[in-house]
Amino acid sequence: MIKGFVFDLDGVITDTARYHYQAWAQVAEEMLGITIDPSVNEGLKGVSRMDSLEVILKFGHQEDRYSQEEKVRIATAKNDRYVALISHMTPDDILPGMKRFLNAIKAAGYGIALASASRNAPRILAGLSLSDYFDAVVDPATLTHGKPDPEIFTRGAELLGIAPAEAVGLEDAVAGIAAIKAAGEFAVGIGDAKLLSQADLVFANTAEVNLAAIEQAAR
Ligand code: BG6
Ligand code: MG
Repeated sequence: MIKGFVFDLDGVITDTARYHYQAWAQVAEEMLGITIDPSVNEGLKGVSRMDSLEVILKFGHQEDRYSQEEKVRIATAKNDRYVALISHMTPDDILPGMKRFLNAIKAAGYGIALASASRNAPRILAGLSLSDYFDAVVDPATLTHGKPDPEIFTRGAELLGIAPAEAVGLEDAVAGIAAIKAAGEFAVGIGDAKLLSQADLVFANTAEVNLAAIEQAAR
């Protein structure tokens, strides 16, 4: 019944959250005079670049201060710093167990798609030397809605040429699990089972992700 897997990137395949945080913290401090703390970072996970800026502006009570043009300039400055940080990524940055899992699903003949909100996803996959595993990468620039909207996971299955009911989505974020469920796919959560209670199956961390267990549960 399962024919393919649709992956989130950050927190599932690698951990880029610390780089997003580092880049945003610098730009917020230098360009906006806003000091962000790690609690703000939680609200940036899975959220698009421009929406992340809105979260930070709201945190600093500056919602109405900048024009759209200025916001684009700020977001671009953040991205320049972020790209410099991720340019050092190597296969050593793949989260534990994920290379093994990708090898297992590839060997079993499943389709593999990426459903990341990041426009830098292809660059990150290349740094990790994982590009060849993916039959399809959803381009977030072509989407109207972000997670928890199902659009990105629906598109992932579509690009694999399979029905949502034949797809397994993997996510570490609550909004991502909601998106997978709304798309009508089987949701595998990675992280705290209480937090990801909407998922059909939860693994505590990436090292525990197991193909046989997913096949059995999704049957
Ligand atoms: C998601 C991250 O994967 O991509 C978010 O979790 C980030 O924090 C979003 O804002 C957009 O990324 P990018 O690379 O297009 O700025
Ligand atoms: Mg994630």
